[in-house]
Amino acid sequence: MAPDAAHIPVMPQQALELLNLSPGATAVDGTLGMGGHASLMARALGADGHLIGIDRDDASLRQAERKLGPLKLKIDLLKGRFSTLDTILAGLKVSAIDGILLDLGISSFQLDDPGRGFAFKSEGPLDMRMDTQSQGPTAADLVNGLKEAQLEKIISEFGEERFARRIAAAIVMHRAGAKITTTQSLADIILRSLPRGYTRGRIHPATRTFQALRIAVNGELDELASGLDVCFRMLRKGGRLCVIAFHSLEDRLVKNKFKSWASAEEGLILTKRPLTASDEECASNPRSRSAKMRAVERLK
Ligand SMILES: C[S@@+](CC[C@H](N)C(=O)[O-])C[C@H]1O[C@@H](n2cnc3c(N)ncnc32)[C@H](O)[C@@H]1O
Repeated sequence: MAPDAAHIPVMPQQALELLNLSPGATAVDGTLGMGGHASLMARALGADGHLIGIDRDDASLRQAERKLGPLKLKIDLLKGRFSTLDTILAGLKVSAIDGILLDLGISSFQLDDPGRGFAFKSEGPLDMRMDTQSQGPTAADLVNGLKEAQLEKIISEFGEERFARRIAAAIVMHRAGAKITTTQSLADIILRSLPRGYTRGRIHPATRTFQALRIAVNGELDELASGLDVCFRMLRKGGRLCVIAFHSLEDRLVKNKFKSWASAEEGLILTKRPLTASDEECASNPRSRSAKMRAVERLK
């Protein structure tokens, strides 16, 4: 594990402004990570507030506990998925929430730990599960077990990778000789399967395929689709949901959900267009470059 890996919260001021938390309110950080946003939310809630933090990753939860533990307000930090927020809140006997934040994807803490298998830049097992206790498939299971057409579909849809067919074919050809078990071996196979010019692009050629596999391993889009509904339903009237997305598939889902609530007159969209990070923030925190923030208020 990378013990002191830092994660800088993305667009913190904009998130706080959109959440508009009052002292004494109850708020949920559904993607707690290292507790960066949560500690700012805690400050806004004040000593009489109640902060509920959720993460599906045990290691992140422990990091957040270290950071938030000393704060003087009511805090519940729990392992779970935000799509099960209703059950989590029932367990806490909390019925309505004033503000919910979802900062999607993984944190630098997870990315920078080679043992988690999220990064193609360092050697590690091809795992990519956010919840390492889950029975779910690892990236290695998908890469070695799926049919070529299924692999191509995942890489094309979740990675928006135009060379998905070539990459899937290269993976299948390689695994016929030996299982693909590490991040670097997969990154090499991807690199060798691509036309030369493509490898000179701005992002590393393995970026999209790794993103696609991570999304598939963690069922991220299904989780987001059902999670948005559950979170919105748990807001009190006037409560707000703020979501930070990092790729177009996520952002499209968020935009369409918000639109459907607005047209049913259940929600008021607070961000006509998604907010993005300033040039200064992008320069100091490269992760913020692809962030898109949207917020909605519950009307009924
Ligand atoms: C981008 S990080 C959040 C960073 C956090 N805002 C901070 O400032 O430290 C996303 C976190 O959400 C967690 N996560 C992703 N999807 C989740 C889900 N469906 N339910 C609960 N946690 C999730 C990941 O494990 C990761 O720790």
